[in-house]
Amino acid sequence: MNLQDTYHLVTGGSAGIGKATAAALRAKGAHVAITGRDEAKLRRVAESLGALPIHADVAQAEDVERTYQILEEQWPRLDSLVNNAGIGGGHASIDELDIEAMRRVYDVNVFGAAMMGQKAAQIFKRQKAGCLINIASTAALKGYAKGTVYSSSKWALRGMTQCWQADLRPFNVRVILINPSEVATAFGDPERKERTAAPNKLSSEEIAHTIVAALEMDPRGFIPELAVFATNPW
Ligand SMILES: NC(=O)c1ccc[n+]([C@@H]2O[C@H](COP(=O)([O-])OP(=O)(O)OC[C@H]3O[C@@H](n4cnc5c(N)ncnc54)[C@H](OP(=O)(O)O)[C@@H]3O)[C@@H](O)[C@H]2O)c1
Repeated sequence: MNLQDTYHLVTGGSAGIGKATAAALRAKGAHVAITGRDEAKLRRVAESLGALPIHADVAQAEDVERTYQILEEQWPRLDSLVNNAGIGGGHASIDELDIEAMRRVYDVNVFGAAMMGQKAAQIFKRQKAGCLINIASTAALKGYAKGTVYSSSKWALRGMTQCWQADLRPFNVRVILINPSEVATAFGDPERKERTAAPNKLSSEEIAHTIVAALEMDPRGFIPELAVFATNPW
């Protein structure tokens, strides 16, 4: 797909992987809308990218509704949803699990992604075209000690991806899962401070490049799932 003049919604586009993806899409001449919860940061980043800011929390049904209302009013079509907004789950072994904290992570990583995906799918089915990209994690491939909350939320997103692929392929809609390994961002930092790329970690640009490459493939084909690792993490 030639991305020039195409239309893309990136959730959590005000930092890290989402911001780099929005920038990479803008560099291809695409129109991009970004969402986030911190309104000042969202507006600052949107202005620097020439993107449309939509102040919205993916975990809030009314915010999801409003996001798509704005897009349907302002844009003629939607070519992709990058379901990227996500939060960490901390570290807790089975005996330390806090179920309320687990629900809060699922509200964003699972139910938020499901609500965003459901609305996008309605548009894509109508258009008989579209691409839904879910950003999970290598934590969706293998569990690890103290990882129940985050890892299981990303396994759920991976499961939803496979179901949506089966639901949507007959409508010419591509659903793609991308599983990054560790990326230097503000992820998991309670102060939300951006991390600078370390030589042994991925940077947001590698994931943005992966997303753009998946979108650019002719819509005749799609990549169901791919993982991205740092070449030499040691
Ligand atoms: N960094 C990693 O090592 C890594 C590895 C694998 C997968 N991932 C996944 O990649 C995605 C992006 O992570 P990142 O590293 O770029 O994180 P990040 O630097 O913390 O950025 C997260 C972005 O999502 C937004 N966001 C968070 N919760 C939101 C919500 N409920 N509604 C709307 N926007 C929300 C944040 O903005 P506000 O704070 O203003 O809401 C921010 O723009 C996540 O799904 C994460 O699980 C990250």
